[in-house]
Amino acid sequence: MNRFVSLRRRLCRQAPRAAFALLALGMGHAPMAATPPQAGAAPGIPDTMQQRVAACTSCHGAHGEGSPDSVAIPRLAGKPAGYLLQQLEYFQSGQRRHAPMEYVVRQLGPAYLRDIAGYFAKQDVPYRKLPVPAVSADTLRRGEQLVLRGDSTRGVPSCVSCHGARLTGVEPMMPGLMGLSYDYLDTQLVSWRTRQRAAEGPYCMGVVANRMRESDITAVSAWLASHEPPADMHPAPASAQTEPLPGWCVMGKSGADR
Ligand code: HEC
Ligand code: HEC
Repeated sequence: MNRFVSLRRRLCRQAPRAAFALLALGMGHAPMAATPPQAGAAPGIPDTMQQRVAACTSCHGAHGEGSPDSVAIPRLAGKPAGYLLQQLEYFQSGQRRHAPMEYVVRQLGPAYLRDIAGYFAKQDVPYRKLPVPAVSADTLRRGEQLVLRGDSTRGVPSCVSCHGARLTGVEPMMPGLMGLSYDYLDTQLVSWRTRQRAAEGPYCMGVVANRMRESDITAVSAWLASHEPPADMHPAPASAQTEPLPGWCVMGKSGADR
């Protein structure tokens, strides 16, 4: 648990950057000097969408490719739009807790959020190599078992049954599990157990994460972060989800209807 607490502390120290970000959001066409310097930002006057996402790219990277400085700040580029939108709504409603993220989305209206989610979903930039955690071969074997086959004795379905055969997600709502850092994966799985991430009613990952042991969380995160991502990282089309999701896996409202 110590590792988790120290990660949270590290993230809280990033709050001042979020304050900059919000300033940028509120300032319309004011000079970009209000935002921290960004790698890859276009020179001159930015177009509207660049202006809008300036508040995000200071942390998430110019194209949402993730932060080179922090493995805890996730990539946004290429994730299913419905999924991104739902997460932004969760940060707004407090169903997903993370102080800097809650802060940057607080003032944004629904149409604005949808545009931003659509923008990052369309970004197509290369994945970076992430650090591979040092864990035992047994841990990796357990991780592989859970990811590919699940553990019926604990009622844990395989991760591939929902996240897609290539683990790159399924349109429009299911996120991929490839290209995410060990730290980020581990933090998210712990967050469902501590209800830092929690939707109303039965929510998929709350059920999945609570059926796993703590050592299983290490194992799946380590296996996923060590696995060579497939060449094609795009989410599978919605038609790839042929099996119905289990009854306890209720997807949010930000799905196919948008
Ligand atoms: C201060 C740095 C910071 C800023 C600014 C920031 N983010 Fe984030 N964002 C984070 C971190 C850290 C996380 C991971 C939170 C967690 O662990 O739950 C995150 C998570 C997210 C997620 C969830 C990703 C996923 O795969 O579930 C989305 C979507 C997101 N941010 C979008 C945005 C958008 C859009 C903006 C601009 C309006 C923005 N962020 C601004 C740091 C930031
Ligand atoms: C029954 C379907 C289901 C199964 C099985 C499942 N997931 Fe998920 N997973 C979801 C859904 C739905 C979401 C989106 C959750 C949300 O919006 O909060 C999700 C989200 C995630 C995320 C967040 C990704 C991000 O970018 O923040 C991680 C990490 C994750 N799952 C890991 C796993 C792992 C590891 C397994 C296997 C042990 C697994 N999941 C099995 C349905 C499932």
